[in-house]
Amino acid sequence: MAAPWLILGAGSLGRLLAARLSGRQALALIGRRASVRALNLTTPEGRTTDHAVPRIVMADALYRPGLVHVTTKSHAVETALEELAGHIAADTPLVLWQNGFQVQPRVTRDWLGPVLCAVTSEGAYVDGEDGIVHAGHGTTHLGNLDGEHAALATSVARTLSAAGLPGRACDDIRRRLWHKLAVNAAINPMVAIHRIRNGGLRDPAHRPRVAAIIAEVATVMAAERIEPPQAGWSAHVWGVIEATAGNRASMLQDVLAGRPTEREAILGPLREAAARHGLETPVLETLWRDTPS
Ligand SMILES: NC(=O)c1ccc[n+]([C@@H]2O[C@H](COP(=O)([O-])OP(=O)(O)OC[C@H]3O[C@@H](n4cnc5c(N)ncnc54)[C@H](OP(=O)(O)O)[C@@H]3O)[C@@H](O)[C@H]2O)c1
Repeated sequence: MAAPWLILGAGSLGRLLAARLSGRQALALIGRRASVRALNLTTPEGRTTDHAVPRIVMADALYRPGLVHVTTKSHAVETALEELAGHIAADTPLVLWQNGFQVQPRVTRDWLGPVLCAVTSEGAYVDGEDGIVHAGHGTTHLGNLDGEHAALATSVARTLSAAGLPGRACDDIRRRLWHKLAVNAAINPMVAIHRIRNGGLRDPAHRPRVAAIIAEVATVMAAERIEPPQAGWSAHVWGVIEATAGNRASMLQDVLAGRPTEREAILGPLREAAARHGLETPVLETLWRDTPS
């Protein structure tokens, strides 16, 4: 087996990776507390299995891991990496799993080792101290923002795929990150503000504001030269709303649990891009002010 992987952040995605990879790839899961208890995985098909994964704290991290999967929320990445940097080799490769487009360019610029970004449509949530529910199968695209490290992306994608998390190396990760951000910007703040499931956005009370958000997002994307989806932004976003009508978006879950939201990671890059291009985006500004942080 290759050098052990570290997974930094024992929440939803971190536990999903750890449970799925266990037995196939040597690894350790870094959490707030160490534990000797197995992780319990519930699959989308309803099967439950136990996975004996080393669950450690940062101070016990191996000095030379094969790579580190960073699975904290966006706002926690830099603090967590600063702490981890004191324990591991400076040129260790990273995979960033965050939504949004905030930490990715900064960490890619500042970290000494190779940095990959992952855009995933896997869905997972934690269940108690040791449980992880894999809510829905998806696909994960991996790539470097500067178009480098293709062999690393291919090898990580292969290992993930073999573990039941289909992965693909790609050369357009920037576009994929912005596309996911655009969809998240149109859905997550609104459902968090109104405390509704995604499908609630189809209600006539919310529809016009969602349409106005999509229109401003599309303008910012065009200024950033991000190609629109084939169906166009509006059809694409409404298609996602339709397909995920019953879901509670992560930002809504964060608000309901009293946790900080990823408002800055999702709306921050749009506001910054708008300012950079001299665009007025009053709808996004109001949305940002209304969104719990
Ligand atoms: N869950 C999904 O299905 C999914 C899908 C696609 C993308 N994503 C993205 O993936 C990222 C992670 O999401 P998530 O749902 O897995 O979040 P999460 O459940 O909140 O997990 C993050 C974990 O990281 C831990 N953490 C933060 N700072 C740490 C530190 N310094 N040391 C040790 N542990 C630390 C947190 O602990 P505390 O709670 O104690 O702070 C928490 O357990 C987000 O950007 C999200 O948008 C998630």
